[in-house]
Amino acid sequence: MNRRDALFGIGIGAFGLAAARLSSAIPDRRLLTSSFDPDVDLVLTAAPGDTQILAGARTRVWRFTGTVLKGPASSLQVIPDSFLGPVIRVRKGQRVRIRFRNDLPEPSIVHWHGLDVPEAADGHPHLAVASGAEYVYEFEVINRAGTYWYHPHPHGRTGSQVYQGLAGILVVTDDEEAALSLPGGAEDLVCVVQDRTFDANNQLTYLSGGMMDRMHGLLGDRMLVNGRERSTLSLSTRAYRIRLLNASNSRVYKLMWDDGTPMTVISADGGLLDQPLSQPYLTLAPSQRADVILDLSKHTVGKTVQLRSAPFSSSEVSIDEGAGMGGGRGMGGMRGMGGMGAGAVPNGASLLLMTVNVARKVASTFRLPARLVSAGPAVRAEPSAPVRRIALDFRAGQWLLGGRSFEMMEVAPDEMVRAESTHIWEVANVGGMMGQQMAHPFHVHGTQFRVMKRSRPANADTPERSVREGLVDDGWRDTVLVLPHDTVQLQIRFTRYPGLFLYHCHILEHEDAGMMRNFRVTA
Ligand code: C2O
Ligand code: CU
Ligand code: CU
Repeated sequence: MNRRDALFGIGIGAFGLAAARLSSAIPDRRLLTSSFDPDVDLVLTAAPGDTQILAGARTRVWRFTGTVLKGPASSLQVIPDSFLGPVIRVRKGQRVRIRFRNDLPEPSIVHWHGLDVPEAADGHPHLAVASGAEYVYEFEVINRAGTYWYHPHPHGRTGSQVYQGLAGILVVTDDEEAALSLPGGAEDLVCVVQDRTFDANNQLTYLSGGMMDRMHGLLGDRMLVNGRERSTLSLSTRAYRIRLLNASNSRVYKLMWDDGTPMTVISADGGLLDQPLSQPYLTLAPSQRADVILDLSKHTVGKTVQLRSAPFSSSEVSIDEGAGMGGGRGMGGMRGMGGMGAGAVPNGASLLLMTVNVARKVASTFRLPARLVSAGPAVRAEPSAPVRRIALDFRAGQWLLGGRSFEMMEVAPDEMVRAESTHIWEVANVGGMMGQQMAHPFHVHGTQFRVMKRSRPANADTPERSVREGLVDDGWRDTVLVLPHDTVQLQIRFTRYPGLFLYHCHILEHEDAGMMRNFRVTA
């Protein structure tokens, strides 16, 4: 109690200073709302730091750190030896206040990816605060239990800030999920997959490939899990819940366990599936999450299981990659030479991500329920819902959304929706006139949608080891991977909160270059 009071005092003091420094530049909504009585009150600071990632020199990173001012101490969980931000754990129904302190040398703002929150708490780039300033978020957790995440969202700088280390997991729990007795506590693990490129002094390099990196999106040549290369886990012969997040800027993974254990998916971006899904592969696009059950109860102590990305043809996600155009793997890929970005390790390469050591024998009685959601609301297509077609294409050196690119406050007439109305958005990956085509992870703020349909031209062929083998379109999603030639039909019920929200490609270099638009929710 005393300690909490002391911390609270420090928090208020720090806020007072930041507010004074910014003076009139802070609109009212960034100040604490006296009527808002939070159950959980946190400080989240973004600041430069350094960490040991590779052998030798420490790596300079930007990172989130946090403090709990009010609420359970377990609201923040630090991932040991990681540059990733603390895992934020909240319950559905909790009122949450987060005081974001920007101690970076440039403007920033944080977005709670997948959460349905009011406009002022969504982290739109026009809300970015200056270096040294603070932004206060206040919202109620209305999402289902699931794995969400947070990252910066300042316009033009999101890719670089996330790349330098600014990302973290946000876990929501609720009664519906708790009733299932899924693996929890020490058996509930996070696994954040990212790729990075380092220079000869172990420092991160970003967009060293210039234009081509921007067009393709950044691809690093070293795979990190929870901020560690060749990450290993020592586990027991029991079942684990592993919360997978692809927090890479642009890389797509086709995840698998190397010993033939199926990927058993229980949860997508927006929480539990109706029933578990077992398949050999799980394709995870940037910003997508999937929780899997890894049941080691039949495994032999001493064995290892690798989490890998299975090979697929890079042309399935990027049609001109490595095929002329001056980019791709043709430019080489030697580490320690300033980094070659795009092509050093192309999309579709076979990758080792993490090794699980089966270390201890324990008795396990875990049985995965055949149904996860008892009486989930059935989703039915609403035939009367307005249909909007959005083409993903490339013109005059730019990736576009519905023929447009981002303007900070601009909203077109077809980007106006009523609060809580249902629309069908048909997202069609038509590519560019020169044949450039890429897979785009299409993301919508403030909601979780259903993928009603995925279709492609009848004559489009699929390679043998296709990235499609791992696609999971089931469940509630906030991001869908739209592969070249594909058209996906999304049923979206928009947020109850009026205001300005975003939809965009979650390849961060595409988003930063303007493959992003606003939509306005009207009351
Ligand atoms: Cu994770 Cu607007 O994004
Ligand atoms: Cu988002
Ligand atoms: Cu894109």
